[in-house]
Amino acid sequence: MGNNTEVYWHEHMVSRAEREVLNGHKGCVIWFTGLSASGKSTIANTLDHKLSQNRVHCAVLDGDNVRHSLNAGTQMLRENHGNDFAERFGLGFSAIDREENIRRIGAVANLFSQAGMIAITAFISPYRIDRDRVRNTLLPGEFIEIFVDTPISVCEARDPKGLYKKARAGELKGFTGIDDPYEPPVSPEMVLFGGEKTPDVLANEVISFLKHNAIIEK
Ligand code: ADX
Repeated sequence: MGNNTEVYWHEHMVSRAEREVLNGHKGCVIWFTGLSASGKSTIANTLDHKLSQNRVHCAVLDGDNVRHSLNAGTQMLRENHGNDFAERFGLGFSAIDREENIRRIGAVANLFSQAGMIAITAFISPYRIDRDRVRNTLLPGEFIEIFVDTPISVCEARDPKGLYKKARAGELKGFTGIDDPYEPPVSPEMVLFGGEKTPDVLANEVISFLKHNAIIEK
């Protein structure tokens, strides 16, 4: 009990190359990172829509949605699983909880990519080391880190959930960009200027990148 030394890794029967031939495109992880309200989710979903229309197999993993399911918070888990379970497995927004949030998402995105799909993730993922750890689980070229570089003033003016307002008022502690850090990527594969261009234009920029790098066909 308590360790997993008796767990063995199984080689998959269908090779990655075979899946890619079947799908007509490569698998990869498109990792959007940026402040809350920077536009990550909107761009991710626009991209998903455009790729799906071109018969590219993809899936979106989105911060707010995943934090209702796989990475539910303590309060959410308490009702069905009790206090002990909720305290142990529920995730919040401390540095260590964000680390675990990103680790789990990275593992799921990796599975999608192994299955020949394009995993599109939209999480603040504020810590460089957490994003780099995910990168290191993937092959060179498989992790496409995209910094949605939207000035905090723009994010704050948008404030779709009223969270910047709460954070400024001191009602919400440890909010990214206000009283919690955001570490921008040092050398991301792409930078998108979320305050200047529409999600449609930005999604097209990502599609150009995917074509240029032979992840999807031209
Ligand atoms: S991450 O930092 O762990 O990557 P994630 O992307 O999953 O964050 O969730 C971010 C969303 O959670 C925000 O868009 C916002 O709606 C909500 N949220 C609640 N509390 C915080 C907080 N302290 N900091 C940032 N986002 C928060």
